Amino acid sequence: MPDRFDLPTGFRWGVATAAYQIEGAVAEGGRGPSVWDTFSARPGAIRDGHTGALACDHYHRYPEDIALMKDLGLDGYRFSVAWPRVLPTGSGPVNAAGLAFYDRLVDALLEGGITPLPTLFHWDLPQALEDRGGWLDRDTAYRFAEYATVMADRLGDRVPAWITLNEPFVHTVFGYALGTHAPGRALMFEALPAAHHQLLAHGLAASLLHERGLEVMLSNNLTPVEAASSSPADRAAAAAYDTLHNRLFTDPVLLGRYPDLSVLGVPGDIYGAVHPGDIDLIHAPGLDGLGINYYNPTRVAAPTDPALPFDLVDIPDVPHTAFGWPVVPDALRKLLLHLKDEYGAALPAVTITENGCSVEESIDPDQPRIDFLAAHLDALAQAVAEGIDVRGYYTWSLLDNFEWAEGYHQRFGLVHVDFETQKRTPKASYAWYRDLIAAHRLHHAE
Ligand code: FCB
Repeated sequence: MPDRFDLPTGFRWGVATAAYQIEGAVAEGGRGPSVWDTFSARPGAIRDGHTGALACDHYHRYPEDIALMKDLGLDGYRFSVAWPRVLPTGSGPVNAAGLAFYDRLVDALLEGGITPLPTLFHWDLPQALEDRGGWLDRDTAYRFAEYATVMADRLGDRVPAWITLNEPFVHTVFGYALGTHAPGRALMFEALPAAHHQLLAHGLAASLLHERGLEVMLSNNLTPVEAASSSPADRAAAAAYDTLHNRLFTDPVLLGRYPDLSVLGVPGDIYGAVHPGDIDLIHAPGLDGLGINYYNPTRVAAPTDPALPFDLVDIPDVPHTAFGWPVVPDALRKLLLHLKDEYGAALPAVTITENGCSVEESIDPDQPRIDFLAAHLDALAQAVAEGIDVRGYYTWSLLDNFEWAEGYHQRFGLVHVDFETQKRTPKASYAWYRDLIAAHRLHHAE
């Protein structure tokens, strides 16, 4: 295994986390409830009834976690801000204690030489906004813009770049179409106004952040889509899935138009959600970087259930993670080259804002994770060699954490967390990542 990959000088190494998955302290410091508190309390919603109420107790243990990051030698830390910690009811009065937590976190990171990269929305919508319709309600986009302003005005003097949304695809589809994530609505394609309102929220916030001289990224979960066969029916299904998963969330931002949604049977104005001028609000601010969360490609076949325009099928003959996700590292290289082909000059610099895998707790050393990360970094280095402008890599995740509907069962951390005692134990992959970062720096200092 190489001790480093051919990645450019100035390439930024990081780790990524999200507020509800690590912070805990859900009823402390004036935090209001989020949709994930409500959803976790619903019987049967989360495997084994787990909740994020304590999670990794990062709210109290952040100095220890930053010490772990410092020891890794990270350039950057991608975390998310819990909107209901700052604005307990989503709008209205600011909760000073909540804002002070992120202030302390940012200062401690900077003292450790780590650049903070906050994400403003990683799925924990204030419950009060969900009660008014959540992302199905256009007004939520405007509340998000206000919240973004509060954060930028407080931290913008120390935080140069911001991510507006994390994976609006996953939030829309799991949260509003299928109901397997909070807020647990199962509206199928009628969930798509939630996608448009998130993109509108992104655009409104992006303008306000730019006015304050800050850089803006959006983190999309992108998947290379492959048809199960070359039959016209499988290929049409693959194109429909690509529209839903990738294009719907990237075309409006980069190209200023929605893809043809008729392949999904969805009207072009997304059931009346798209108002005149909206596309411009989404596209005009531009993006300083596209965040890509990459986990796996998706294989698609013609539907067996006529209610859907596609069927998702497994990719045989490749390894699978503990979560059952196929491991296809070269698909990351192909994805990046495909984006360059599709978007050309409209594609901004890319940062991998998530990539990683869950590994069974009993596997020690966690060699499958080391192999996973190494193979993906190799694919990334090849994409760079083929002309893609990649600025950084944030592995998911620093700590084992609350993995949404799977509770604490999927362990994605470089650091093991004992959820009974909160003891952190760095895994073999932690030492491997630390050495890799050091080797990269040494090489570029020479
Ligand atoms: C992504 C999410 C992140 C984490 C990883 C495994 O879809 O953004 O919060 O759950 O998957």
